[in-house]
Amino acid sequence: MDGFPFLIGQHPLIQKIQVLIKKVSSTDATVLVMGESGTGKELVARAIHALSTRGDRPFIPVNCGAIPAELLESEIFGHERGAFTGAIGARAGMFQLANGGTIFLDEVGEMSPPLQVKLLRVLQDREIRPVGADRTMKVDVRVIAATNKDLQHEVDRNAFREDLFYRLQVIPIIMPPLRERRSDIPLLVEHFLEKHNRKKPERTVQITEEAMVHLWEYDWPGNVRELENLLERMVILSEDAAIRVETLPSNIRSFISEKRIPKPSLTASGLDLNSAVEEFENRLIEEALRRTKGNKQAAARLLGLKRTTLVAKLRRRKAVPGTVQPSQNYLL
Ligand SMILES: Nc1ncnc2c1ncn2[C@@H]1O[C@H](COP(=O)(O)OP(=O)(O)OP(=O)(O)O)[C@@H](O)[C@H]1O
Ligand SMILES: [Mg+2]
Repeated sequence: MDGFPFLIGQHPLIQKIQVLIKKVSSTDATVLVMGESGTGKELVARAIHALSTRGDRPFIPVNCGAIPAELLESEIFGHERGAFTGAIGARAGMFQLANGGTIFLDEVGEMSPPLQVKLLRVLQDREIRPVGADRTMKVDVRVIAATNKDLQHEVDRNAFREDLFYRLQVIPIIMPPLRERRSDIPLLVEHFLEKHNRKKPERTVQITEEAMVHLWEYDWPGNVRELENLLERMVILSEDAAIRVETLPSNIRSFISEKRIPKPSLTASGLDLNSAVEEFENRLIEEALRRTKGNKQAAARLLGLKRTTLVAKLRRRKAVPGTVQPSQNYLL
C-alpha cells in the first residue's frame, strides 16, 4: 500500500484495517485493538499515531499486564512527593509524558478494578489526578488500548467494567489471526527474509517452494511474531542458501504431516472401510518412515509394530497394484 509501510498484507481483512487506520488517524477517537498474541496490535497503534497530527509528539506504551498492580497507578498518573513510602520526589506519569501525543495501554484487560474506574474518569474528563495530589490536571492525550483477551467475556463475568469497555472501543479494530489470512503468508515471508537478509549482506537466504507451502499450511499460534522470529532464526542459522522443508523446525513439519493425513468421514453414500483404513495406515507408515529417515526398526517402534510386521505390510502394498504406496525409496 503506497505510503503505508506499516502493516504488510493484501488480504481483504487487512486492507479494511489499513483503510480504518487512515480514517481514525485523522481523529482523536479512542481505539481498542483486539486480537491474538502476535497479530500486530502494537503495530496498528503505532501506525495510527504516526499518521495522526500527533505523529511528531510522544507515543508512550504502557504494558498494564507487566507492571505490578500497586505500581501501575503511579506509573500511569504520576505521584506527588510523599504520596507513599519511597516517593521522595514528585514524578510525572505516562499520561503527562504522553501529553500532546498518544498513550498505548497494552493488555488493558489486566487492569485492576479500582484503576479501571480511574481510567474511565480520564476518558470522560480528560484530566488526571496524580497519586497523593489534591487537584486534577488537564491532559491532551489520545488513548489507544489493546488486549488479547475476549473483553466482552471479561465484562460478562464482571472482571472488566462495561462502561469502560464501551468508552474504550469507540473504534474497535479486530486483528485476524494469521491462519485466517494465509494468502498474506508469502508476502510476509518475502518481507521478513528481505529485512533479515539485509542485516547479513554476505549471504542471501531464500526459501524453496515446498517450504513455503509448509509455512502456508501451518497454523501459526504465535501469528506474525512467530513467523518473523522463525525467519530471523533461519536466516542467521541457515548453513545453506535456501530454507528447505528439512531445515524447518520439527514442530512445523510434524504439524503438516499430521494435517495431511486424511480423516475419512461417513457420507450419505457410504464409505469403503477397507480402503479408508488402508490409506490411513499407509499415511502413518509413511510419516513414521519419514521421521526416522527410512529406518524400519525405528519406524516399527514408533508404530508399536514388530519390524517384521512393518516389512510384511510394506511388501504387501508393493505387491498390490493400485494401492497407495509409501514413497518408493523406503520400499527398497
Ligand atoms: N501485518 C504485519 N506486517 C509486518 N509486520 C507485522 C505485521 N503484523 C505483525 N508484524 C510484526 O510482528 C511482530 C508482532 O507484532 P505486534 O507486537 O504488533 O503484535 P501484538 O499483537 O502486539 O502481540 P502481543 O499480543 O504478543 O503483544 C512485530 O515485530 C511486528 O512488527
Ligand atoms: Mg503487543
